[in-house]
Amino acid sequence: MTRWVYRFDEVELAEKAVGGDWEEVRGLLGGKGANLAEMTRIGVPVPPGFTITSEACNAYLVGGGRFPEGLEEEVAAGLAAIEAATGRRFGDPENPLLVSCRSGARFSMPGMMDTILNLGMNAEVTASMAESFGDLRFAYDSYRRLLQMFAGIVLGVNPELFEEVLAEFRERRGVRSDAELTGDDLVEIVERFDQIVTTATGRPFPSDPRIQLDLAIRAVFDSWNGKRAVDYRNAAGIPHDLGTAVNVQAMVFGNRDDRSGTGVAMSRNATTGEPTLEGDYLMRAQGEDVVAGIRQTKPIEALSHELPEVYEELVGYARLLERHYRDMQDMEFTIESGKLWLLQTRNAKRTAQAAVRVAVDMVEEGMISRDEALLRVSPEHVDFFLHPQFAP
Ligand SMILES: Nc1ncnc2c1ncn2[C@@H]1O[C@H](COP(=O)(O)OP(=O)(O)O)[C@@H](O)[C@H]1O
Ligand SMILES: [Mg+2]
Repeated sequence: MTRWVYRFDEVELAEKAVGGDWEEVRGLLGGKGANLAEMTRIGVPVPPGFTITSEACNAYLVGGGRFPEGLEEEVAAGLAAIEAATGRRFGDPENPLLVSCRSGARFSMPGMMDTILNLGMNAEVTASMAESFGDLRFAYDSYRRLLQMFAGIVLGVNPELFEEVLAEFRERRGVRSDAELTGDDLVEIVERFDQIVTTATGRPFPSDPRIQLDLAIRAVFDSWNGKRAVDYRNAAGIPHDLGTAVNVQAMVFGNRDDRSGTGVAMSRNATTGEPTLEGDYLMRAQGEDVVAGIRQTKPIEALSHELPEVYEELVGYARLLERHYRDMQDMEFTIESGKLWLLQTRNAKRTAQAAVRVAVDMVEEGMISRDEALLRVSPEHVDFFLHPQFAP
């Protein structure tokens, strides 16, 4: 029988299923899922999770929007494995497991569904988290993010309705960022968000975590056939029958406390190619905050002063990943109460200048051969050096 779900620590099984070829593993698990599994295999700290295969997506779409036989049970087993690994339970207010739902096809493409964070929260879980963490703000900030993302992405509620409420509260408090709103503000904001969902959809936000996850998975599958995704594949000549994988992963919280944060980092400088980390991060922030540009991010170098051990660890994993993939990496990370987690890695985009410098350096570091280095420098890269350069 076809297997629809692979845990991140089961990459060998996925390899076996496709006959050992890594490109095929990427096809089955998507780029994000394959790399999360590979990171897990080589000992990089990745929050536990599982990938629903792109084959499951195809079966769902061919079946007219019905889960293929066995998928529901495999998802339940995958969740149980995350529960066992974290010691938390999905939907249990006393000790709740929260998960993210992340789409990821073989090729990244616009129009695919955005990631939803904090699945598994509802009024009860939130109230209990506020109490057990002793942190009203953290709990309600996490919940308002779920409401906002889930409603906008899965239920199709106009995202501006939520932004308007946040703007109103920022104005009321005279602050510029959501991070400066208080716990009491967020309790009120959650109430308003709840009302928005009920009014816009005619029913309350689904409080049952299993229903939340089920709807989120379907929404990722459905997004494969969304207009933007189809148009993009037509333009890019990508086949329509690849399908997308779905990654379900235990949440880690960059918005947990003062020793928590989230960011992106390249293993080398993407402009110059210099062999030092380049990136941005934010303390007390979650997921999209860094790219959203609402708050001023800090350069990654500042982390070496703020949390020196974490910075050193990040440098170490960047090296490990570079040596493993034999290329410069672009990583996403989150720090929860001083503990570093990696959430994504992929080969990094870079300028022509950086491409040449990185290729030369990697030969010197013994990471790649001269022949490989030559293959990595394209004619456009060389063309760049045939014209005069000006310092910015
Ligand atoms: N389980 C998780 N815990 C904490 N942060 C997460 C988790 N899953 C995803 N994120 C973060 O949410 C953001 C969006 O996720 P991602 O799936 O990588 O989407 P994208 O493809 O748009 O980068 C990223 O910053 C990612 O690191
Ligand atoms: Mg990402």
